[in-house]
Amino acid sequence: MSKLHTPKTSGAEAPSSCWRWMTSFGSCSPGHSVVDCGAAPGAWSQVAVQRVNSAGTDPELPRGTVVGIDLLNIPPLDGAHFLPSHDVTDPATHAKLLDLLPNGHAHVILSDMAPNASGFREMDHEKLIMMCLSLIDLAEKILQPGGSLVCKYWDWEPRS
Ligand SMILES: C[S@@+](CC[C@H](N)C(=O)[O-])C[C@H]1O[C@@H](n2cnc3c(N)ncnc32)[C@H](O)[C@@H]1O
Repeated sequence: MSKLHTPKTSGAEAPSSCWRWMTSFGSCSPGHSVVDCGAAPGAWSQVAVQRVNSAGTDPELPRGTVVGIDLLNIPPLDGAHFLPSHDVTDPATHAKLLDLLPNGHAHVILSDMAPNASGFREMDHEKLIMMCLSLIDLAEKILQPGGSLVCKYWDWEPRS
């Protein structure tokens, strides 16, 4: 793994602007493999499918792979393989990913995972940071050399 990108977003930031931030690194190209962690209901996967041409929309370009994972159900999407009712932090999910990805490798791991907000900002922030850190374990298994791990997390600062 060579890059760890961590965009910080405020609650008001639109998913599309966050996605633009992520793809500004040019990491998602036709033929690439993308793992979308916390994929439901599927907005980021939809953009990833277009970027990597995983639905084969452009027959002139190499066809990529998109695998989305979520604890929740995810509506089907042409060009994406979803693992609903799966926990990204579970080693059994990692094993399935190794089977689904070409050569067991991903060029990009995206994460928009978020815990259910409890209303206690410090606790929610810590849970989210733990989720992001758990992706390092996944990245060590599936990210190809030079690949990118991109995590979104909420910022939090203690009140003085
Ligand atoms: C902000 S939503 C994702 C929205 C998605 N990026 C989209 O574009 O439609 C956060 C998702 O993270 C999922 N999530 C939270 N913890 C998870 C875990 N341990 N494993 C898989 N998904 C998780 C939640 O179920 C929720 O659907």
